[in-house]
Amino acid sequence: MSDESMNWETLGFDYIKTDLRYLSYWREGNWQEGVLTEDNMLHLSEGSTALHYGQQCFEGLKAYRCKDGSINLFRPDQNALRMQRSCARLLMPAVPVDAFIEACKKVVLANERFIPPYGTGGALYLRPFVIGVGDNIGVRTAPEFIFSIFCVPVGAYFKGGLKPNNFLISTYDRAAPNGTGAAKVGGNYAASLMPGAEAKAAHFADCIYLDPQSHSKIEEVGSANFFAITHDDEFVTPKSPSVLPGITRLSLIELAQSRLGLKVIEGDVFVDQLARFKEAGACGTAAVITPIGGIQYNGQLHVFHSQEDVGPITRRLYNELTGIQSGDIEAPAGWIVKV
Ligand code: PLP
Ligand code: COI
Repeated sequence: MSDESMNWETLGFDYIKTDLRYLSYWREGNWQEGVLTEDNMLHLSEGSTALHYGQQCFEGLKAYRCKDGSINLFRPDQNALRMQRSCARLLMPAVPVDAFIEACKKVVLANERFIPPYGTGGALYLRPFVIGVGDNIGVRTAPEFIFSIFCVPVGAYFKGGLKPNNFLISTYDRAAPNGTGAAKVGGNYAASLMPGAEAKAAHFADCIYLDPQSHSKIEEVGSANFFAITHDDEFVTPKSPSVLPGITRLSLIELAQSRLGLKVIEGDVFVDQLARFKEAGACGTAAVITPIGGIQYNGQLHVFHSQEDVGPITRRLYNELTGIQSGDIEAPAGWIVKV
């Protein structure tokens, strides 16, 4: 049962301390049996590599309450695999896929009262992370690691749910061409804080980054992937080694093709050719699908479908995706894991 004292309608994307979180240590070559703990504070060596050298990665996935009261996790195996790739990139030990999914289930069940009720549009956001800890000072991989998962009930990340938002093309890069853009590591987000704050100060929802090599092609939003719909009903999304391979993006590629019958193109999205598109959107676990009303580039706002309403194809993609996540629409095989 969901907690009746919570105001589910006003949830945004803010930290709320929930009841229990999962905590596991890697010591002497092995992940130890994890525990659920009430303590939301971590006790770390001051020499932890996570604090000095950014040796940390994280994930984001959601648990959804269905109409029949059951609980869905959306493609947690994909988050587990991406976290393994992030760990490999930063020389951290991999968490096995099964252990990752079991820990997610434990955290969801232990905090069941925080899952927003079916129909409120909210979900329980899970934040798994791996950090390098233990006494250390040199630039090298840590002697010990922590794998933890906490959860927070969330509503919309960008304001208004399906209301279009405007985004600003950034003059900064979030990741280098052969850097860590494809890994979900904190350093990419540290680099995005100042550009993101500047965009928000100028009344944009967030910024959009261009490719760090030529600064001519759209890569992604600071917290979500980018897609657009051409006038010929093609679903286009950037393909680049410095973009985070989003699980929402991957899912939309499949749904656009198999359920909406759209041609899918993973390729270049030149920022000076936005007139190719009639709709655009940001997609991610937190962002879900946020329609992009306009993109500001070189002082000019390029408007897509509308500043007021979501375009028809973006709406169909949104309905299909969220219907699958909350169990109203049949999911492709393997996408839903029941808790
Ligand atoms: N790109 C960035 C930079 C992100 O932070 C996210 C969110 O996780 C995404 C893309 C979308 O990824 P996913 O759909 O797996 O949440
Ligand atoms: C997510 O959607 O899970 C993200 O990581 C985006 C943002 C909250 C960092």
